[in-house]
Amino acid sequence: MDREALARRYYNIGRLRRAARRVLPEVIFDFADGGAEDERTLARNESDFDALEIVPRMLTGPAERDLSVELFGRRLELPVLIAPTGLSGILWPDGEIGAARAAQAAGTIYCQSHGSTCTIEELAKGAPGPRWFQVFLYRDRGLTRAMTERAWAAGCEALVLTVDNQVLGQRERDLANGFAIPPRLGLRGTLDMLVHWRWLLRMRGARRVSFANYRGAAGHEEDIVSLGAYIARMLDPGLSWSDVAWLRGLWKGPFLLKGILHPDDARIAAEHGVDGVFVSNHGGRQLDGAVSAIRALPEVVEAAGDRLVVLLDGGVRRGVDVLRALALGARAVAIGRPHWWGLAVAGEAGVALVLDIFRRELDRAMALCGCARLTEIDRRLLAPVGRAFGAPARLRLVG
Ligand SMILES: Cc1cc2nc3c(=O)[nH]c(=O)nc-3n(C[C@H](O)[C@H](O)[C@H](O)COP(=O)(O)O)c2cc1C
Repeated sequence: MDREALARRYYNIGRLRRAARRVLPEVIFDFADGGAEDERTLARNESDFDALEIVPRMLTGPAERDLSVELFGRRLELPVLIAPTGLSGILWPDGEIGAARAAQAAGTIYCQSHGSTCTIEELAKGAPGPRWFQVFLYRDRGLTRAMTERAWAAGCEALVLTVDNQVLGQRERDLANGFAIPPRLGLRGTLDMLVHWRWLLRMRGARRVSFANYRGAAGHEEDIVSLGAYIARMLDPGLSWSDVAWLRGLWKGPFLLKGILHPDDARIAAEHGVDGVFVSNHGGRQLDGAVSAIRALPEVVEAAGDRLVVLLDGGVRRGVDVLRALALGARAVAIGRPHWWGLAVAGEAGVALVLDIFRRELDRAMALCGCARLTEIDRRLLAPVGRAFGAPARLRLVG
């Protein structure tokens, strides 16, 4: 399908999600779509955006809109980044490279996950534009250090330390589907794979899918199952602020924490020389019951002041969601699942479409709100109920 036909058919993210559900084996769709336990945080990440009603301004003459934003000295064309997602290469061969190329063509940033199916160096070669890299802190600090040094050498502009994943959330759709280590697909799962023969055929040509950055780290084990078990064993629940200080000292560029929800953690991050935070609950995949990202945002923004750049991810599905997050003080947002749906449906062109949908929707929302540039988007665009929900606690009591 050419790009125009693709755009006509999939005119929003919801349609791409439905198409992804059709083209992917259930076990893979659910791995991405699902969240932890009862998926309440996952659901609230999306529904809490709806609680924020917009009160648009008229007659301000925004004939042309500028959607660009500056982030750590680089100007982006769009305040929508691609969040780190492990194993994107199970959707489409070289999925990470395709997604990064689409992001770079749209003038935004691709953040590579530690768990990508291509190495840091392969991504740098296949998509040499601006990239960030995401790491975990391992029991073997040398492994974290080695990955960080490789990311720097490969030209990654910022380092993102994810801090909400030191113990794995229980993703119950994966348990039901047998998507575990080792996998237990059963007859139904195996037949479902066969039904999705187009995906199977496409992936047959792909290199063996695994956690490419870890090859060699776990001795002779290279396959996805052994490396997945190795990574899980390496996660260190003892992670603390002294580790943050240590990693901060190693990395010369912008350094961000991903998974901050509490305003006090934002304050402590600023004291440790962190440059930015992702207000995030890992897309509802870790602590079920955690506050939604958009609800946590205003207090983190207040705590951060001008010391930290605040980004948000979780539940962003429409251009108006981007506008709402910016109105509550995020500098930009990141998307996880939406770019997976694009990748599953049409590879690089699908991710390009996803970013174009966000660009068009945000542009339209700004025009309808009377905003010519992102800096004109602020809390006054939100209805009083939204302002109360976004205000510090003492005001909320009055509201
Ligand atoms: C399939 C999948 C894999 C993910 N892998 C990672 C990862 O390797 N590292 C990480 O920090 N976050 C990971 N995340 C979380 C995302 O970076 C992001 O926080 C989340 O997807 C945002 O929510 P959204 O999917 O509603 O946009 C993953 C999310 C998904 C859906």
